[in-house]
Parts: sequence; C-alpha cells; structure tokens
Amino acid sequence: MSRPVLAEDGYEHYMPRVSESYRVEDLAGLRQEFDRLERDEYAPVGGRRFRRYGNGVILPWENKTGHWLPIVESDTGERRTGYDQGSNNPDHLSVRYFHALSESVRSNAILRALIEEDFSLTFWPRDGQQLPVYFGVHFVKLTSSGPSDPGVSSPDYFHQDGEPFTFAHLIHRSQNMMGGENFIGTTSIRNTRLEEAPVDQILARFTLFETLESFVVHDPKVSHYVSPIIKRDDKCEEATERCIVLIDFSPTVQRL
Ligand SMILES: [Fe+2]
Repeated sequence: MSRPVLAEDGYEHYMPRVSESYRVEDLAGLRQEFDRLERDEYAPVGGRRFRRYGNGVILPWENKTGHWLPIVESDTGERRTGYDQGSNNPDHLSVRYFHALSESVRSNAILRALIEEDFSLTFWPRDGQQLPVYFGVHFVKLTSSGPSDPGVSSPDYFHQDGEPFTFAHLIHRSQNMMGGENFIGTTSIRNTRLEEAPVDQILARFTLFETLESFVVHDPKVSHYVSPIIKRDDKCEEATERCIVLIDFSPTVQRL
C-alpha cells in the first residue's frame, strides 16, 4: 500500500503487511476475543451487534505502538472504556461506555502490528508542537440467524466517523453469508441511505473476504457505508458472523 493513494483518493482497499506472516495462535487469540464480546447495549433492541473497545495514545516521536489508556470501572464493577464520537454519529450524541478489550488481546502481536502499520499510513499537518495521537480499537461482531434477521451496522447509511482515519480489518467472515458489502461515497451523500444514493456519487464497492483483508478511509474526503449481513440459510446450524477490528486515529489538542 502506498501513501499517495490514500491521500489522493481518500480510501484504500488493501492487505496489511502482517497478513503475510503471523502466528496462528495470535489469530486464534483475536478470534477468542470475538467469541467473548458482550452484546452492544447501544444497538437497537434485538440487535445482533457485539462489541468491545480499547483506546490509547501514540507518542509519534517515541514509538509507534502506543500506550493503552486505563480502563474505567463501572458502578457494577465492569471494565469499561469511554467513546465519544461528538456529533458525528446522529444515532449516539453523547459518550458511550463500551465493554473494555481484555488485557490479553491488548498485547496480541497481530493487533499491535496492525496499530503500528495503520499509524504509519496516516498523515498529519505539521504546524508547530507535536502532540500525542489518540487511537481507538473497536472489536465489532455482527450476527444473523436468517434472512429475516439481518445484522446491521451503525449508522445504517453513508456517514463519516469524525476521526480523521479509520482502518477496518476483517478477522472472520462466515461462509454462509450475504451482504457485508462496503461502499465508499463522496461526502455529498453523507446521511443518505444506499437506495437513495446517486450511483455517480459512489466511488467504490467491495467485500472483505480474506483474513486480515482491510480498507481505510481518510474521513474528511469520503463517506462510507456497510450493508447488513444476512445468513443465507436459516436451517444451517453454523453461526453466521462477521468479525471486524476497527482502528481509528485522531489528534489530541491542548485546551486552554
Ligand atoms: Fe463508520
């Protein structure tokens, strides 16, 4: 992957370096975390979305792997991480507290390699003092039990995330599945549903199939959308799920 493509097009669909060589135990560690995800309490009732979140900072002058931020304990003793999308997700306008990523997955070699490579592909205005860069890591799983029970992403239309860069890495996609197709659009179709989006405003469409197959968006330049996942055959016993690691980066600022 070359940096100019992302800078010029605002997105790129690619295979990360770590996909060429990794330990199967580390991939199993990521899959195990997905098996343990809690239901996303912010998803619609009956929603088939599961999620954990972790966040940290990278000191660009020091190293590229970053430092995880401390986990918050809820009143009931659960491990949580705060996530604030500002006004960029009309579905959720205040801070959400997601279940925290486990300690073991936070040191997973594949995850660390992804954070490091992803950060190396970002670019920042260099005016004045360098500050830490914030990163957020979402483990998101969608499931579907049949054609009448799709797994739907949030929000369910073209949108921008707010963070300048978001990387999406496929960890697992069940065979028995339709949908989960990614679309990249111009920013003019932000807040537009796929059915209403003019075709000439859709810049790319693709589906992630391979383990660790990835795409990235430079958020100010493009909008994005992923279609619901649907189990093809509800009589099939096998679970139908799509497991994605999302890694986003945003600047930190000094507030006076
Ligand atoms: Fe998004």
